Amino acid sequence: MPLEIVRNDITRMEVDAIVNAANNALQGGGGVDGAIHRAAGPRLLEECRTLNGCETGQAKITRGYNLPCQYVIHTVGPVWKGGGQGERALLAACYQNSLALAKEYHCETVAFPLISAGVYGYPKAEAMQVAVDEISRFLLENDMTVYIVVFTRDTVELGGKLFKEVAAYIDDVYVAEHYDADREARRSQRVWKDMPRPTVGGGLFRRAHREDTARNETIFADADLSAGAVAPQASLEDMLGQVDEGFSEMLLRKIDEKGLTDAACYKRANVDRRLFNKIKNNPAYRPSKQTALAFAIALELPMDEARELLMKAGYALTHSSKADIVVEYCIMTGNYNLIEINQVLFRLDLQPLGY
Ligand code: APR
Repeated sequence: MPLEIVRNDITRMEVDAIVNAANNALQGGGGVDGAIHRAAGPRLLEECRTLNGCETGQAKITRGYNLPCQYVIHTVGPVWKGGGQGERALLAACYQNSLALAKEYHCETVAFPLISAGVYGYPKAEAMQVAVDEISRFLLENDMTVYIVVFTRDTVELGGKLFKEVAAYIDDVYVAEHYDADREARRSQRVWKDMPRPTVGGGLFRRAHREDTARNETIFADADLSAGAVAPQASLEDMLGQVDEGFSEMLLRKIDEKGLTDAACYKRANVDRRLFNKIKNNPAYRPSKQTALAFAIALELPMDEARELLMKAGYALTHSSKADIVVEYCIMTGNYNLIEINQVLFRLDLQPLGY
């Protein structure tokens, strides 16, 4: 997934480069700066001493030494003074310059802490928004995997207003029973098995999954199998010749209908280019539910089309999945901000959309 928020200690991240929230002297300090220097060992400080400091908003790079990363990119965030002294632009420059350096050094994976959100006092929710905005902008034009590494206390305001609204909606609709996908699949097979065998000639019947939050119910969409009606025999080749549009075809059709480029769509969906190409080149490819939902959000599909796209991948929205409820709420309220949705999912310890 090109942009992912993770809860971790940045000194443990096994990536090409981690970013340090340093100070202008580049002499080490507390917070993440201190943690990085402690984990890297004394040679990091020795190299920093050769760099002659760093301006606020700028970035400089060293080796990672004892850290599990190849490089450390040191950047100096602004001290928060109320927001009226260019703090946002300086913080944005930290991400822009750090990403430019990472690209220059051919890094494929980079991890950021929330720069300035600690000792320098930048409000965490705003600091996260600047990070997400600048990294997302960079990822529209570049292929890289970027992690925003948050520490335990950092998550307190993630997802903001949307989090509160969604939490209330979950309370209203969450079906406490655990949703057992295997059990549901077996049950719907039983329903299918007990139905009269198809003897459809011309007409065909397709299994259409009508999503019903209480139960997934399999209904026959095309053939009239009401009492006594016997469908004519369908030849196998007829049935195979009538296979519906698959997930991949519907996705590509919707991209065209929306006037999007492939890249614009998969970037909006926070899906890796290579995964998108797999889906595009294999009509039978079945993506994960998180990927299918990410595309429904990226395409800003209304609920019925979102359900249809999900069904093509073999899934249905259910009220016994909190992640599904979050997505349902956002589509119903017209919130297609995938990054914000992922912040809410992250805060609920649920898997994010994308991949
Ligand atoms: N891993 C990930 N994130 C961390 C870690 C860690 N090991 N330690 C702290 N953080 C988080 C904090 O929770 C905060 O959200 O990093 C964010 C940045 O906090 P600081 O490290 O205090 O950095 P900043 O606010 O930019 O202040 C920089 O602090 O440590 C000094 O020398 C540094 O003078 C500089 C100032």
